[in-house]
Amino acid sequence: MASRLAKELLTKMTLEEKVSQLLQLAAPFYDEIKDDGEITGPMEELGITDAHVSGSGSVLGVSGAENVIALQNKHLENSRLGIPLLVMADIVHGFKTIFPIPLAIGCSWDMELAEASAEIAAKEAAVSGVHVTFAPMVDLVRDPRWGRVMESTGEDPYLNSLFARAFVRGFQGQDLASEKHRVAACVKHFAAYGLAEGGREYNTVDLSERQLREYYLPAYKAALDEGCEMVMTSFNTVEGIPASGNKKLMRDLLREEWGFEGVLISDWAAIKEMIAHGVAEGEEEAALKAIEAGVDIEMMTPCYVHHLPQLVQEGRVDEALIDEAVLRILELKEKLGLFEEPHRGADPEAEAQLVFSAAHREVARELAVKSSVLLKNEGGLLPLDPGQKVALIGPFAASGDILGWWSWQGSKEKAAQLGTAMQQASAQASNVVIAQGCQIESISEAEVQEAEAAAKAADVIILALGESSEMSGEGASRSDIRLPEAQLELVRRISLLGKPLAIVLFNGRPLDLHGVYDEADALLEAWYPGSEGGAAVADLLYGKANPSGRLSMSFPHTVGQIPVYYNHFNTGRPLSEASSEERYISKYLDIPNEPLLPFGYGLSYTSFAYGELVLSSDSLTAENPLTASVKVTNTGSLTGEETVQLYVRDITGEVVRPMKELKGFRKVRLTPGESAEITFEINEPLLRYYHSDLSYKSDPGRFELFIGPNSRDAAKGSFQLVR
Ligand code: BGC
Repeated sequence: MASRLAKELLTKMTLEEKVSQLLQLAAPFYDEIKDDGEITGPMEELGITDAHVSGSGSVLGVSGAENVIALQNKHLENSRLGIPLLVMADIVHGFKTIFPIPLAIGCSWDMELAEASAEIAAKEAAVSGVHVTFAPMVDLVRDPRWGRVMESTGEDPYLNSLFARAFVRGFQGQDLASEKHRVAACVKHFAAYGLAEGGREYNTVDLSERQLREYYLPAYKAALDEGCEMVMTSFNTVEGIPASGNKKLMRDLLREEWGFEGVLISDWAAIKEMIAHGVAEGEEEAALKAIEAGVDIEMMTPCYVHHLPQLVQEGRVDEALIDEAVLRILELKEKLGLFEEPHRGADPEAEAQLVFSAAHREVARELAVKSSVLLKNEGGLLPLDPGQKVALIGPFAASGDILGWWSWQGSKEKAAQLGTAMQQASAQASNVVIAQGCQIESISEAEVQEAEAAAKAADVIILALGESSEMSGEGASRSDIRLPEAQLELVRRISLLGKPLAIVLFNGRPLDLHGVYDEADALLEAWYPGSEGGAAVADLLYGKANPSGRLSMSFPHTVGQIPVYYNHFNTGRPLSEASSEERYISKYLDIPNEPLLPFGYGLSYTSFAYGELVLSSDSLTAENPLTASVKVTNTGSLTGEETVQLYVRDITGEVVRPMKELKGFRKVRLTPGESAEITFEINEPLLRYYHSDLSYKSDPGRFELFIGPNSRDAAKGSFQLVR
């Protein structure tokens, strides 16, 4: 139901004014922000007039309290009806305090910290004038060639859904009207953008509706269930129709079935791109398809402003469609309190105090610690002793390029570098000698020799390697996801010295670890850990903190296996020990079927032992759930955190069921020798899935249940679901 204020305003608006509300332009289009004359070109190119700009409903990518206040003042001066501008921006993993990339946060399995990171991001953005963030991105991902896997929390629908909720809670709080330090969230990219064929950016997506519902939709739905105010369309096709003009997806599913009443925005230029996709002849048809699908805001292309007024006048578009879009936008403005306080949270003083504050950076450090995943630690090489002589070598030894792609407001110069942090953490700074070794993508003999000299004088070598932030994120698909050859060459040369070698990786995707995994005695995946990344990694390397991250996306053996993910099907000819020599089996001749490192995997400096898996009963009914318990004991000598994971397999379904599905997990912190009894309830709703007719229900029959430290090494039990 539209509010009175919104309805009243609507009655006063001309058709042109209404349509202008649906336009979103980037900051440089606005006089207060653009450099002299610079924008003339793009404005002409897009056919955008000053009237469009001054009548536009929202702006993207602007921030800075004074900037936004000036922009809003000017905008209101020019607005006949005094309608404030909505300020949106991509605040994805932090504003100026940059948190680890979402894929890293995914590996923390820590919803409280994820929420805290979004709350801080919201606070910094809100005092800097932002009203809406284009986040969370909750696209399920299975293909690490795609550069945007860094923006997702991983490959599992259940885990992604929990994170979607946590991020929305953190961004929006309880009440946007009274909490001026929160921002509205916009979940994206609806839908199934993560399935781009071949991992190639902006590529085709095609999947069955059943698969869409089972894997891809749950996280978007979870965000909406948490009250997420906005949705962004994806660039891709769904069943042959680009999302931004896809009525079935947007009207029938999002609006009708799910009851979403918030604002739906296109992704950047996605309405006009329907022409290139080949479903619209020109801008007019693109506008028609998008408005009919229910897309309220057109981001950065002018199809709506150029064509909707005339389409309405010709009777080809019902004005009611425009009205409903305008009402939704006005209501969001009202909900954010912009009619009473058009500057909302924008406050230069608070901005100076809060943004990049020590307290915020402390949370970033904690989350970076929890997001890093220890992938290997032979002979207990890590943690280091502060007295050890260390050669820290590689392009990330002294680099601030550790923020990741979505950190447009972050400062690489202010990022905590690994080298400095390690020198502070060791007994004396001179214990840590830093050498470049190579660049990200080039290597010279002089660099190698300097690195070898440092390495020879050290007790232990740490190589800090990875991808530059340009190598992942939007528009950064890679077909070969090994480290660049220069860095592999550095590993070869340094490992010839035969000294204890640990490798720390800074990157945005699961890599093919050939040339790294076997060569290293210890391997720590730090991802892009954010503003406090170097400090967090030093905490882990020196044992001030104990690694606890668990992979939320599988690491492939090689690219040839992709997509490789834990919740796959068995096939009719599964590979097993007994069948491995046979030819007509679902397998590769040259590589294993299994990923190198599975979903849920991660090590600690301590060890955990799992006791026997105990089920309270061997059957359950809808009325009587059962419980599954296991005793977990810290058998090492350090306090550590284990993530106990519960998986289920439905042995016989109406449609084929995955080999394992994550159904729950518990994080438990144990001191040496301490045990905890971990109990999960298994109830009937947990066993439901989408059938061929898209009904969501369970089937009686036999199930397997697994509890363990990751999706591969879990102990198995079984039970019956009885009607
Ligand atoms: C991206 C979105 C982003 C938008 C605005 C697009 O290119 O796909 O994720 O929110 O730009 O910056």
